[in-house]
Amino acid sequence: SHKIILDTDPGIDDAMAIFFAFQSPEIEVLGLTTVFGNVPVEMAAQNALTLCELAGKDIPVCKGVSRAWVGKESTYAHFVHGDDGFGNINFPPATKAKLDPRSSAQFIVDMARQYPGEVTIVAIGPLGNLALALRLEPELPKLIKGVSIMGGAAFVQGNVTPVAEANIWNDAYAAEIVFAADWEVTMFGLDVTLQVPFSLEFLNKLKACNQKFGGFVHDAAQFYVEFYSEHRADKVCFFHDTMPLAHLVDPTLFEFQVGHARVSTDPLNIGQTSIAPVNSTTSADWLNARQIKVATQVDIQRITQLYLDTYAR
Ligand code: BDR
Ligand code: CA
Repeated sequence: SHKIILDTDPGIDDAMAIFFAFQSPEIEVLGLTTVFGNVPVEMAAQNALTLCELAGKDIPVCKGVSRAWVGKESTYAHFVHGDDGFGNINFPPATKAKLDPRSSAQFIVDMARQYPGEVTIVAIGPLGNLALALRLEPELPKLIKGVSIMGGAAFVQGNVTPVAEANIWNDAYAAEIVFAADWEVTMFGLDVTLQVPFSLEFLNKLKACNQKFGGFVHDAAQFYVEFYSEHRADKVCFFHDTMPLAHLVDPTLFEFQVGHARVSTDPLNIGQTSIAPVNSTTSADWLNARQIKVATQVDIQRITQLYLDTYAR
């Protein structure tokens, strides 16, 4: 099975993703590392503990960076995820589970050293912990199997600005460090995550097949659906963060394009992920930008069924 570190800012779709990982025998979660993003980092850490306690999972949960690598003050997405990060469902916070004393970045480095070449980092929040881990251990890329990111918008519009997706926009300088490092990056951006809407009917099914996890996601996601319905005619939501995990379980769900990647740090288009498909340019600057794999298509039918089957286990 895949050893992973799940770097997260829970978050409703983060919760959906974390339970999916816990339910998948193909995935071994070594620990949850948390980061500011949807909510402040203290709340992200507490929420991660709460999800672990609910799941009866005694794994390390670490607190990470509370603000962007450079410049901007943190802003949060309470209007998307609720005051509690879980759609205002008043879920009782964990009481027994305790935080690991290490920082998220230190935990990433420790696991990479303990299992050289075996660990995949799955990052479903802003990328500050990964950038910091690269600073703590410059050899980190050699020790890590791969980095799977939910973030960015390669060939589609952004969701925070016309060109930037939230996770990358939240910490663009960190993202540029992570994209430029000498490891294998696979990006699951809005290109694929917005291809798969989840209806109220899906949420009902999820609850019916798993009261504990499905019920939690069903209840939390009602607020999330309301947020999306402000901009749409139908009642759906998007579980962005599940996609890199679904890929670990079934790589055939996705199609990819390989391209040279840059993250903009210019004020106007800060956080934009620009991808130059291989062979699309002879510019030396572009050719110097590292190649990553960008997910461009997902099998909607099969991935939706995978979530139901996995929750039903
Ligand atoms: C990403 O931003 C957060 O709101 C979600 O949890 C997801 O990680 C989507 O843009
Ligand atoms: Ca997230």
